[in-house]
Amino acid sequence: MEAPNYANPFRPGAGHMPPYLAGRENEKQEFLNLLSQDVILENLVLTGLRGVGKTVLLDTFKPLAMQNGWLWAGTDLSESASVSEERIAVRLIADLSLVTSGITITEKQILSLGFNPQVKNVNTPVNYDLLLRIYQQTPGMVADKIKAVLEFGWECVRSLKKKGIIFAYDEAQNLADHSAKDEYPLSLLLDVFQSIQKKNIPFMLALTGLPTLFPKLVEARTFAERMFHVVQIGRLPDENSREALAKPIRDVKHPVSMGDALIAQIISISGGYPYFIQFLGKEVYDVVLQKMKAGSAPKDGEIVVPFDDIVRKLDADFFAGRWSKATDRQRDLMTVIASLPTSGEEFTVQEVVERSKEVMPSLSFSASHTSQMLSTLSQQGLIYKNRHGKYSFAVPLFDRFITRQKNHKAE
Ligand SMILES: Nc1ncnc2c1ncn2[C@@H]1O[C@H](COP(=O)(O)OP(=O)(O)OP(=O)(O)O)[C@@H](O)[C@H]1O
Ligand SMILES: [Mg+2]
Repeated sequence: MEAPNYANPFRPGAGHMPPYLAGRENEKQEFLNLLSQDVILENLVLTGLRGVGKTVLLDTFKPLAMQNGWLWAGTDLSESASVSEERIAVRLIADLSLVTSGITITEKQILSLGFNPQVKNVNTPVNYDLLLRIYQQTPGMVADKIKAVLEFGWECVRSLKKKGIIFAYDEAQNLADHSAKDEYPLSLLLDVFQSIQKKNIPFMLALTGLPTLFPKLVEARTFAERMFHVVQIGRLPDENSREALAKPIRDVKHPVSMGDALIAQIISISGGYPYFIQFLGKEVYDVVLQKMKAGSAPKDGEIVVPFDDIVRKLDADFFAGRWSKATDRQRDLMTVIASLPTSGEEFTVQEVVERSKEVMPSLSFSASHTSQMLSTLSQQGLIYKNRHGKYSFAVPLFDRFITRQKNHKAE
């Protein structure tokens, strides 16, 4: 009998909600703990490598926050939002206005809060225009102006009897100060939230980004160390990886079934990294469905899946673009790194230097050259340096990909 045309449930793609979000229970609890603060002492930083599920986890925090009486504002922080203090201020005003625009206020109330926005109507919505006028009317530096807007916003929101507002920003590693241009948008954001939180205004920051994010915050303002609770996410434990693969199929009674051995194979190749789980799940599902339709699936025993081909497709889709941006010499260095036993975790400059002498005696790297190249690779988003001065690949399983490249070349 021909299998019906079931849609593939898996969702490999940046920010795409998986059919089943596996695990992350501790992380959700940590977020709930932050929500229980009356006075905000700690804000959230959610970090992890590319494709570990930061964006979709942040998306699931939103309904949690709302169920717990919070309002939610925020978006992706593109680099352009972070070019100047004014830009970040406008971003905050736009985000605040989305949660306040349903509220109306009278001229008398606005005047009583110390502002004179020359409002004509009796009931004025607290929308972007009104907030922007308050910003423009407030004297002083950008920080003073935006603080005034946020305080005003909170006075308006009070009537809704909410616990507070979460300002959630994805891709927050894009935030940066630019001393050459005398623009400090990152420091501004930290100063402003620290200051309004001291005044007991319950506005909480939830920043998501690559592992470079938290060190960046601390570099800008040392108090950031105490201001944030860092939640770091990584690969899923095997049990959760198994659920991520099996549950979407089981729940909707898909005709395709993946046996334990097949699932174990996918988990092993994916390393438990969510993007790879979705990618491999999707490909394997298609293969199995096709074989079932063609009647070539064995009655008992596992369907044989061409994993080599699937991994080659993954290499082309996910890794090759990043690899192709590196120079030959950078590739040599990363090939040396990939041959370290700790390449999947952390490594030091010294380890790389020593290893290079072993595997590339004629082309080995000096310590200063290695440091310099690692720093360039960090800027390119391929490597990152953690707070203990050790390095890691910023792309999950990059070491395995590099080793595959080397082997292909050798063949
Ligand atoms: N807990 C999970 N269970 C199953 N699949 C997941 C889980 N978390 C994420 N995914 C899947 O992994 C992929 C990557 O998720 P997401 O885009 O949220 O990662 P990210 O960390 O934001 O990546 P980037 O650093 O590129 O922004 C998506 O296809 C998503 O559906
Ligand atoms: Mg993301």
